[in-house]
Amino acid sequence: MLRLTQFLKQYNTDTELVELINLMMSACKEVNAKLHDGALAGVLGETEQENVQGETQKKLDVLANDLLKHDLDECHLVRGLASEEEDLPVACNPDGRFLVAFDPLDGSSNIDINVTVGTIFSILEAPADCHGDEEEAFLQPGDKQVAAGYVLYGPSCILAITTGKGVHMFTLGHNGEFYLTRENVRVPETTKEFAINMSNQRFWEAPVQRYIADLLQGEEGPRGKRYNMRWIASMVAEVHRILTRGGVFMYPWDNREPHKPGKLRLMYEGNPMSMLIEQAGGRSINTRQRIMEVQPTQIHQRVSVVLGSREEVDVVQRYHEEADAN
Ligand code: AHG
Ligand code: MN
Ligand code: MN
Repeated sequence: MLRLTQFLKQYNTDTELVELINLMMSACKEVNAKLHDGALAGVLGETEQENVQGETQKKLDVLANDLLKHDLDECHLVRGLASEEEDLPVACNPDGRFLVAFDPLDGSSNIDINVTVGTIFSILEAPADCHGDEEEAFLQPGDKQVAAGYVLYGPSCILAITTGKGVHMFTLGHNGEFYLTRENVRVPETTKEFAINMSNQRFWEAPVQRYIADLLQGEEGPRGKRYNMRWIASMVAEVHRILTRGGVFMYPWDNREPHKPGKLRLMYEGNPMSMLIEQAGGRSINTRQRIMEVQPTQIHQRVSVVLGSREEVDVVQRYHEEADAN
């Protein structure tokens, strides 16, 4: 079986990028170990603090952030980092070539119930002359990402990664090595499965209401087939399911907090997941436009997300265009 480093070399991946990916994986293995120890390590539960987005931090949100931050800061290749759990970007090494944006622990409401969580990351080239702690340096559209991926901490620990040459998956073995387990993952173009938090239904826009209502009508409805629904409340787990068997995942804008464009964050959730999904042949939009074309204006900005199997994302986009035209 092929090890991660061997595989990346076979794909002629830039050697510095290989080094950075390996370094991030060593931090993610430490996160994985802490998650496995769970209550034995005293790491479950909440802290007394909130992050800049007003969310109460779990102990493991902070721990995962500290582990990644520590390793990235020591890496000569990293100019700066931005994290969901850091108010502002952090300067690392003045000569570093890359910027890394990450969600240290995604799906953290699942930690205390022992359900799948993950780490999401996005790697950008650092613009010349930046120190790594300027927000503007990070504000590059998702199309500029040089690599993106996630590590899923579930029944197995799995890395899904793209450097712009397809999406590949690696499973962590007991010996601490990631081995290639799926090469060139493709998202099926059609599906009968959707994922959305239905409890927000009354807050959605009309085209989202129309789309989900169609799906719920099953064989008798305009889509002519019966759909199944899943909601894990962990984007990593939902995207992993979609990369594995197709589906559509939506976290659209809603009018609970109308001034925010959505719940999920563009720089370390929307963009890296969009790169993975598009590299696997799926689509990812903010209901009206490709997410990776959105020009970011803030490091923690939100984005509406619709991603997955091409046929479903096309329908959602068409319903929004039809609504906008009226
Ligand atoms: P995080 O734990 O990093 O804050 O992200 C959680 C996100 C995402 O993973 C998931 O899809 C969504 O929040 C779930 O939100 P609801 O609890 O509103 O369903
Ligand atoms: Mn998240
Ligand atoms: Mn998080």
